[in-house]
Amino acid sequence: MTAGSTATWWRTRRDALLACLGKRDCAYVYDLATVQTQVAAFGVLRSVTQVLYALKANPHPEILRTVHAAGCGFECVSRAEVERVLAEVPGASRERLLFTPNFAPRAEYAWALERGLRVTVDNLSILRDWPALFDGREIFLRLDASSGHGHHEKVRTGGLHSKFGVPPAEFGELPDAVAAAGARVVGLHVHGGSGNFDLAAWLGPARILAAEAARHPGARILNLGGGIGIPERADQAPLDLRALEAALAGVKASHPGLELWMEPGRYFVAAAGVLLARVTQTKGKGDKRYVGVATGMNSLIRPALYGARHEIVNLSRLDEPPCQTCTIVGPICESGDELGRDRRLPRCVEGDVLLVADAGAYGHAMASSYNLRAPAPELVMPE
Ligand code: LLP
Repeated sequence: MTAGSTATWWRTRRDALLACLGKRDCAYVYDLATVQTQVAAFGVLRSVTQVLYALKANPHPEILRTVHAAGCGFECVSRAEVERVLAEVPGASRERLLFTPNFAPRAEYAWALERGLRVTVDNLSILRDWPALFDGREIFLRLDASSGHGHHEKVRTGGLHSKFGVPPAEFGELPDAVAAAGARVVGLHVHGGSGNFDLAAWLGPARILAAEAARHPGARILNLGGGIGIPERADQAPLDLRALEAALAGVKASHPGLELWMEPGRYFVAAAGVLLARVTQTKGKGDKRYVGVATGMNSLIRPALYGARHEIVNLSRLDEPPCQTCTIVGPICESGDELGRDRRLPRCVEGDVLLVADAGAYGHAMASSYNLRAPAPELVMPE
């Protein structure tokens, strides 16, 4: 199954979902069964021997325990993310935890390395400036081996104009810098961006990494990052994981001594989460109709930040036909505070519950208390 086809759990469990919201104005609700389905679907990628969940997408403790129980390790980007995993996931092994900081302070690297965590280095200068830190350590090197892919320019993490990874012009200097620091490279890493549907996002970078592995004889692992997109619209085709597997199997066949790892975030959790928010007020203005709800960009910033599209329905009137085209807005004092624009909805009355779909990834994780409005709380659907 794909994220697109599991997105309907909330249609079949509408009453349970409304009961879960209770009298609240708004809430994120997560369906752990959908997380399990998505992790299982990822199993098609047989060439990938280690799957690390990128918890920046959603670090809710129950989600962490669910992906761990399904066999995943973790990819962390901050000390707090590492500590969240160690505190909330009994039995999470440090071996299956990768720390991938970017422009973090030296003390954060020191903290991780002293605890024996595997760290990904994405800057030649820190090997040269802080050699003692890396002496005797096993590290990954993040190479800027991708020209950058993704659903929006802000999430393209490859190419000269992104701050991530060692640039190709410095690849040749890495072996000496690693040797001088006394480190050992056990793997190479690339993550070119997020929200991809094109195999080229992984295939080209995988080949570059495989070629670069020749310069680092101890490198046995190629970590191809995350970035699997999930459809925003019903007519958008999901990524064909079988085709991705066929492509990766080809890389593996040419380099039998190398292991492939991946670190998806969105694919596991996006469809598992919905944002529920009650209608507060409606307004007509010129030819526009606004439907106001109890929370906005403080809970879900993706539409405002990336122009991302999330399906929106009136959960209280799921069976009523649409009768108006409206823009769904929150209570935040910015005109960018939109959850969806020009959507067809049935009538919306104060107290109705609107549902914003596919909000399980980068939803609550990116929420803020802007205007001192607390973001929607997080709930887990009862089984
Ligand atoms: N690995 C690395 C090194 C990453 O930087 C990321 C995401 C991932 C894995 C997971 O990527 P995913 O599978 O979730 O696409 N806030 C944006 C997405 C930013 C992604 C940042 N890095 C959004 O809401 O679309």
